[in-house]
Amino acid sequence: MANNSASIWTPESWKRHEARHLPAYQDTEALGLVEQTLGNFPPLVFAGEARALKADLAEVAAGRGFLLQGGDCAESFAEFRADNIRDTFRVLLQMAVVLTFASKQPVVKVGRMAGQFAKPRSAPTETIGGVELPSYLGDIINGIEFDAETRRNDPERMIRAYTQSAATLNLLRAFSHGGYANLRQVHRWTLDHIDRSPWGEKFSAMADRIGEAMDFMAACGIDPATVPQLQGTNFYTSHEALLLQYEQALTRKDSLTGDWYDCSAHMLWIGDRTRFDDSAHVEFLRGVGNPIGMKCGPSLEPDMLLRLLDQLNPKREGGRITLIARYGHDKVEAGLPKLVRAVKAEGHPVVWSCDPMHGNVVKTDSGYKTRPFERILAEVRGFFAVHRAEGTHAGGIHIEMTGQDVTECTGGLVDVTNETLADRYHTHCDPRLNGAQSIELAFLLAEELNVEARDRKAQAA
Ligand code: PEP
Ligand code: CO
Repeated sequence: MANNSASIWTPESWKRHEARHLPAYQDTEALGLVEQTLGNFPPLVFAGEARALKADLAEVAAGRGFLLQGGDCAESFAEFRADNIRDTFRVLLQMAVVLTFASKQPVVKVGRMAGQFAKPRSAPTETIGGVELPSYLGDIINGIEFDAETRRNDPERMIRAYTQSAATLNLLRAFSHGGYANLRQVHRWTLDHIDRSPWGEKFSAMADRIGEAMDFMAACGIDPATVPQLQGTNFYTSHEALLLQYEQALTRKDSLTGDWYDCSAHMLWIGDRTRFDDSAHVEFLRGVGNPIGMKCGPSLEPDMLLRLLDQLNPKREGGRITLIARYGHDKVEAGLPKLVRAVKAEGHPVVWSCDPMHGNVVKTDSGYKTRPFERILAEVRGFFAVHRAEGTHAGGIHIEMTGQDVTECTGGLVDVTNETLADRYHTHCDPRLNGAQSIELAFLLAEELNVEARDRKAQAA
């Protein structure tokens, strides 16, 4: 059946479309019970919050602001600890401060957190020492240990993922509005291992200047006690809407507007492997009111992108769609312009964001999946160069990162080498930037945003 936007959408109309990367559950009775249980659980976010994020993103799409989206490749049950959540949150806060201070534009903060559990994999099975088992699909579906029982798809895992998401979100809300994110604390966000890096010093100098600006404003009567924006920050959540059984169970009708929202997160995105004609994932997301992301890799042609945009955003609402380019450092400048031109010519209002992670994976001789930091930076530079040439706004960054001092991506000023990858390689899926590498990236982004602002001013003059 064609993916026809005119056909009736329901929370389960995706079942009549082609679903790739969805797990098969043997025990359908157990699956039904889990879906029912989740359907009765409270929503994790409110529709009004998703609309607030959409309004923020509409500003970014109009060239006023920048989207910072980051977190784990895959959250896991094993790594679920308050300090992990806090450290990722504080690195994102630091990155946002660097970006805001440099660009003088609002930064919209969205975590790949509180629900980023399900993973599309390139092969359905994995073979180790002659034993073949189903691939690991993320903790919400099966377990990472290589044994047959753990690799079985277990619907009960959805309940645990929901619970972990609820607790994570609760902590993020507390950090955002309970005083931790107060700009007066800007010096305290720096983690030890970042403090010891050259970027710690650079950040500290910036924090001093922010402190001075705040002292000056306080003397004028503007301080966190009187201006709530200085006391806390809006922080949103997002994940790939891959496991549609879970997403459907958390989809609710908003009592204010009568519209449907996927209340598992504020923003959901469609992966590079699930955006195609007649995709069940596209069908599902076209019917919910949340802001939607879509990954755009080298295989996406302009006419298909325009078809997808017409399905996902027929009313051409600003802030509804974020296109996340993930080409690879050597492909972005050749591949991205045709998409940018087509979208611009059709007048679709989108946020263009750059995922410099997923096109830059290499395998080392010792078998580690890594991402050289220079390639990540090169893709970011290429992305900005494309938008400068096309006269469009480079509106965001989408990264896999953690506040922990891991050694998963090579390079950076605090050099991680092929040899030291083994020291602290903890990811459950793809390699993440560590705290210091994330801050280093933020400084590069700040420079690029400054060039964009300078060009714009020059053009306006
Ligand atoms: C991801 O973001 O983790 C992912 C799988 O990305 P992509 O769909 O771009 O490959
Ligand atoms: Co990933």
